[in-house]
Amino acid sequence: MLVLFPLLGIASALSVPYPDSAQIPFAGHAHNPADLPHPDPTHSFWTHSPGANPLAAEGSTGALTDDADVCIIGSGITGVSAAYHLANAVEKGTFPDSGSKIRAVILEAREFCSGATGRNGGNLTPYEFNSFRKTEERFGREAALRYYALEHYSATEMVRIARQAGWADAVDLVEGGHMDIVLTESALADAKADYASAIAAGKNVNVSWLNSEEMNATFGTYNSGVRSPGYNLWPLKFATQLFNRSLHIAPQQLDLRLHTRTPVTAISPLPLTDDSSTSPSGRRWLLATPRGPVRCSAVLHATNGYASHLLPHLAGPAGIIPVRGQVFALRAAAPLSALTTASWGGDEGYWFPRPLAKNETTPLVILGGKRTAAGPPFETDVTDDGVVDSRVGAALRGLLPKLFPGLFAPGREPEAEWTGIMGYTALEIPFVRCIHVGPVLDSRPSQSMEGDLLRSNYKGQFIAAGYTGHGMPRAYGCAEVVVQMIADERAGRTWVTPAWFPRPFLTWVRDAR
Ligand SMILES: Cc1cc2nc3c(=O)[nH]c(=O)nc-3n(C[C@H](O)[C@H](O)[C@H](O)COP(=O)(O)OP(=O)(O)OC[C@H]3O[C@@H](n4cnc5c(N)ncnc54)[C@H](O)[C@@H]3O)c2cc1C
Ligand SMILES: *[C@@H]1O[C@H](CO)[C@@H](O)[C@H](O)[C@H]1NC(C)=O
Ligand SMILES: *[C@@H]1O[C@H](CO)[C@@H](O)[C@H](O)[C@H]1NC(C)=O
Ligand SMILES: *[C@@H]1O[C@H](CO)[C@@H](O)[C@H](O)[C@H]1NC(C)=O
Ligand SMILES: *[C@@H]1O[C@H](CO)[C@@H](O)[C@H](O)[C@H]1NC(C)=O
Repeated sequence: MLVLFPLLGIASALSVPYPDSAQIPFAGHAHNPADLPHPDPTHSFWTHSPGANPLAAEGSTGALTDDADVCIIGSGITGVSAAYHLANAVEKGTFPDSGSKIRAVILEAREFCSGATGRNGGNLTPYEFNSFRKTEERFGREAALRYYALEHYSATEMVRIARQAGWADAVDLVEGGHMDIVLTESALADAKADYASAIAAGKNVNVSWLNSEEMNATFGTYNSGVRSPGYNLWPLKFATQLFNRSLHIAPQQLDLRLHTRTPVTAISPLPLTDDSSTSPSGRRWLLATPRGPVRCSAVLHATNGYASHLLPHLAGPAGIIPVRGQVFALRAAAPLSALTTASWGGDEGYWFPRPLAKNETTPLVILGGKRTAAGPPFETDVTDDGVVDSRVGAALRGLLPKLFPGLFAPGREPEAEWTGIMGYTALEIPFVRCIHVGPVLDSRPSQSMEGDLLRSNYKGQFIAAGYTGHGMPRAYGCAEVVVQMIADERAGRTWVTPAWFPRPFLTWVRDAR
């Protein structure tokens, strides 16, 4: 018989290491297009620790790159992964040049990687079986298995790259596993049913279950739990290293630039003056920025929660809704050995203890979540990450001293507290895709887009966005898919779905099954 701690209020399901899309009131009120990123964001531990962001102001002064084959808007994990995949495609010869060096540019509104990737919870946790029944019911068995495969692929590739290139330590990569706390008997029954369904569908599920005695003995906490593979890292440092790697893959064939503090304010079609402007390597789009225009052949929207600023038809439940999340860095009152190196999800929060710096005796714990404490509409339709919410902050302050008695000092103030903007999609609404990956379409996608990406009204514009608060194990793979599409369009090849990619995420697939 489980002994359950009676004071933990909301019975959060296992699938809430990150804020749950089910809590979002998508319907019933107007959704305006997102604003541009707020000019004066809160300072996150990741972005504002001394020396952490050497690329912060890269390319923000001097001449702007005004002409490129590929223009990537946004320098988070999506935009930087796209640059990396592009460099690899150029190096392998699968991204055709047109007689001269290929030009690519990343345009970033604020400092380098200052969006969600520079402000998140630092968890790189591929789901093992979370919400499997709902996912299978929604997408069918094959796509459901791929839904998890995308995360496994992205996370293991990121870890492999960091280790092989020798910068795993420089980005504080820790393979500490992930613990989900299960708060109630009914949540445990739900989790076990998802686990059984995943196994029945043929998925290899690598988890272990802990009862409340084991949770107490191992971690000093209440309730039961389930352990799965998982990592934590310093996401901004990962993006910094991956960008640097991208610069060095094919420098003879690819001219890759980064311009920070360069918001794209509008996109307009270039006049079709001759045949070349309609071909995939001709310049098709004009990006407006306060520093001048940029002419582009292909455009990638790597803007996640902000996507609807440049693509207003993506505002609302059928598109991508900006949602504010809050995180802080709290000094624990116990050594790392008592806390363990696992990352955690439970009771509407997600957290992990950072590796110890040489001058530290107790670790800094990064903790986020508790969005529902803000009350309706739960921080949805918000792009202002220049402030923190005091109600969310109060709920976060109460979480760890309650879950881990003695390991955190009640009343201790965090050393940094910040917010960031996620991009949510309405997973619950029929005929709305989960993540948006592929060519940008108008609001009437057709079923017959495959192999004919040029038919889009936005031909040459692509998107990878809408990770619904769980982008770290998703963006890398989605960026790879979309870069492959850009390369295939340019080469006149038919794009082929990788075995690990769920087709319902494609922008042109209208029926999720
Ligand atoms: C508080 C918080 C906690 C989170 N915790 C986790 C976690 O622990 N684990 C996890 O997996 N996920 C987490 N997430 C989600 C994860 O961070 C995101 O899914 C992921 O970082 C998205 O990456 P991205 O590159 O697509 O978007 P972003 O990192 O947001 O990058 C988009 C970039 O585009 C720029 N931009 C936007 N519009 C324009 C424009 N018009 N012109 C130029 N630039 C523009 C922005 O400034 C931004 O830098 C969290 C998110 C937040 C906000
Ligand atoms: C763990 O077990 C000990 C011994 O039974 C008990 O005193 C303590 O309160 C328990 N702690 C938690 C967090 O359940
Ligand atoms: C299973 O997960 C554990 C960590 O939770 C990890 O050490 C182990 O390598 C994993 N095994 C497989 C087969 O992936
Ligand atoms: C960038 O990458 C190059 C080549 O891999 C390496 O020599 C250099 O040290 C890296 N720079 C930084 C700042 O990490
Ligand atoms: C440890 O050193 C770093 C860098 O010198 C400093 O920023 C930080 O405040 C120090 N931490 C503690 C707990 O003294």
